[in-house]
Amino acid sequence: MSVGGIDAAPNLVEIASELTGAEFVCGNYLDTEGRPENDLVICDFGFDLANFHPSRKPHGTAVAGQYEYCLGCSEDFVPQFAPYFAAWKAWMRPTGRLAVVGRFQNVGMVLAAGRAAASCGLGLVDDLSTKLKVDTPVGKQAFPALVFEGSFEPTFTPEDAARVYAR
Ligand SMILES: C[S@@+](CC[C@H](N)C(=O)[O-])C[C@H]1O[C@@H](n2cnc3c(N)ncnc32)[C@H](O)[C@@H]1O
Repeated sequence: MSVGGIDAAPNLVEIASELTGAEFVCGNYLDTEGRPENDLVICDFGFDLANFHPSRKPHGTAVAGQYEYCLGCSEDFVPQFAPYFAAWKAWMRPTGRLAVVGRFQNVGMVLAAGRAAASCGLGLVDDLSTKLKVDTPVGKQAFPALVFEGSFEPTFTPEDAARVYAR
């Protein structure tokens, strides 16, 4: 098995290289050409919401399952997430999978991520997608952890987002 990775922070690249002996490179994965040769690509909290702009669409309430979310914010996140999914997919084999865990703050953001993934030809692997539950100094926190794979004409609906978000 071979393992490698990329991060923009030189100190993390150094630590990862030392701990694993694997090839980690320093850079921005959004503008690094991928090699589509990995069975599994993991984005482990590796995107920063500070780089996403606030919604430029009108706010409005929508419902996904038992959750309310802002339709404008969710829709505005889709084109912002899309380059991330395209960049992650660029490292996947056609038969590979992508696991993304991060600070998806509400069901609307999960919906946006799923729709962005679908726009890149990635469909949800439902039975592997879950919520990562972590004990933190401020109490238990839960982070949606989504698994995708290449799919023909994938879709991602508000019901999909609510189902995963409720786990
Ligand atoms: C919260 S840290 C998580 C670090 C590590 N994955 C972990 O789980 O311990 C977020 C990391 O994502 C990296 N990151 C965010 N956007 C990136 C990008 N476009 N290209 C490369 N690294 C990025 C940052 O440099 C930062 O080290």
